[in-house]
Amino acid sequence: MKPVVLVTRKLPDAVEDRLRRDYQPRLNPDDRLYASDELVARAAGADAIVPCHTERLSAEVIARLPDSIRIIANFSVGFDHVDLAAAKARGIVVTNTPEVLSDATAELTILLMLGAARRASEGERLVRTRQWRDWSPSFMVGIQVTGKRLGIVGLGRVGRVTARRARGFDMEIHYHDLQRLPPEQEAGAIFHPTPEDLLPHCDFLAFHCVATPQTRKMLNAERIALLPDGAIVVNASRGTVIDDAALIAALKSGKVAAAGLDVYNNEPDIHPEYRELPNTFLMPHIGSATQETRDAMGFRALDNLDAFFTGRAPGDRVA
Ligand code: DGY
Repeated sequence: MKPVVLVTRKLPDAVEDRLRRDYQPRLNPDDRLYASDELVARAAGADAIVPCHTERLSAEVIARLPDSIRIIANFSVGFDHVDLAAAKARGIVVTNTPEVLSDATAELTILLMLGAARRASEGERLVRTRQWRDWSPSFMVGIQVTGKRLGIVGLGRVGRVTARRARGFDMEIHYHDLQRLPPEQEAGAIFHPTPEDLLPHCDFLAFHCVATPQTRKMLNAERIALLPDGAIVVNASRGTVIDDAALIAALKSGKVAAAGLDVYNNEPDIHPEYRELPNTFLMPHIGSATQETRDAMGFRALDNLDAFFTGRAPGDRVA
């Protein structure tokens, strides 16, 4: 008997084809967002769940999952939506999809930097609403990216690709991580042992760290004060790393010149003031949203399922 797999969201066609070939999938062709009760009900009799970060598998939800569930194979690199301790306590294996998102997410980070620095939202709005009148030397003047200092919080896989792409703009790379990386991974990036050490060196600040209780509201008012005046903040990791009220106050005062955001607290009901500010460049959590990457994420999740159900260790086990 092929294992029964509850798939919570619509996945790429090629991934669903492989699921149909190798498993008995319960698919979601309408891509509806299942509330917890519905998710638990749909999991009845299933052997595995393939969720996305849109499903919150809290301790309470995990406690209500049927005993038949043996593995949660996430279609995501982030796993902050899953209570790992609760899964572990129930003997449920949890996996993620690392590596395959790095290029797409780094591309999006560069887009956020450019979009925020060159006032892309404002410019696009002017053209679309026919408010663009003429050209002048003082019109829509932004901030140049080339040659500036980029500070990266979290020089993991995504952070390192972002650093590589940013070097194409002659940027000087600084970073903070829990520990200093070996020279071949640093590739010349300058290590700072604390966020406080890093921040004064950031003309641009990008977050690529994991969402944990330790990184929650990492960018708060005290730390923003350490940035150079007119710095630009971009975030393609998780919204929780930013204290929204503090960043919004800094965007209003000009302490932070602009922000490029792809992830937010409480998505999609983001802090409403982000929408009102002229100096924000806002994307709807699309860091990994390329055809190539979404296929690769799905295949990676299925590789983990295949390993588990053939008695091998899944490569991307996080619990
Ligand atoms: C991830 O994989 O964590 C992305 O944020 C999309 O879920």
